[in-house]
Amino acid sequence: LKFVCVSNDGTDEHMVWLIGLKNIFARQLPNMPKEYIVRLVMDRNHKSVMVIRCNQVVGGITYRPYVSQKFGEIAFCAITADEQVKGYGTRLMNHLKQHARDVDGLTHFLTYADNNAVGYFVKQGFTKEIYLEKERWHGYIKDYDGGILMECKIDPKLPYTD
Ligand code: ACO
Repeated sequence: LKFVCVSNDGTDEHMVWLIGLKNIFARQLPNMPKEYIVRLVMDRNHKSVMVIRCNQVVGGITYRPYVSQKFGEIAFCAITADEQVKGYGTRLMNHLKQHARDVDGLTHFLTYADNNAVGYFVKQGFTKEIYLEKERWHGYIKDYDGGILMECKIDPKLPYTD
């Protein structure tokens, strides 16, 4: 089992993983247009943290780091159907936080959570209260109805992974 963070850099192996992740998102997020999922997963401004087991994608999170604003926007998050509620979603989020802090220099995450995923995000430390000053994110992330804006502060020191 491994956790990787990849973007569309033209590497064959990364492309295969990104396509696998795109397929999981398409299935797990049926309200999202498939073209929109493909566009963001393959967009070079986005990165994806993935769980890989036996060279198969188990799930992942696609996000866009806004390095100058020090926050990241989570676009999609999903674990494949038969592997949900086994702890992968939590480990994935911890790897994302560690990578975003140590590699991108981010301090916060924002996401529009689906109603049924709010419980998962709350368990990962997200709140419906937005403490981040509006000037830091307004105009960067697009308004999206059908979701609840949630925020997570990344701890500056905590070791999120072992
Ligand atoms: N609602 C409430 N609680 C949840 C949910 C949920 N939908 N999913 C998991 N949890 C809880 C678990 O019970 C667990 O609680 P515990 O620590 O008290 O035992 C905790 O959250 C973590 O569970 P994991 O096993 O780590 O979560 P999992 O691997 O299943 O991943 C995820 C969670 C990503 C939401 C997965 O269930 C999934 O892919 N769901 C379908 C797609 C989806 O809804 N994605 C999010 C959409 S919003 C967005 O993408 C921005």
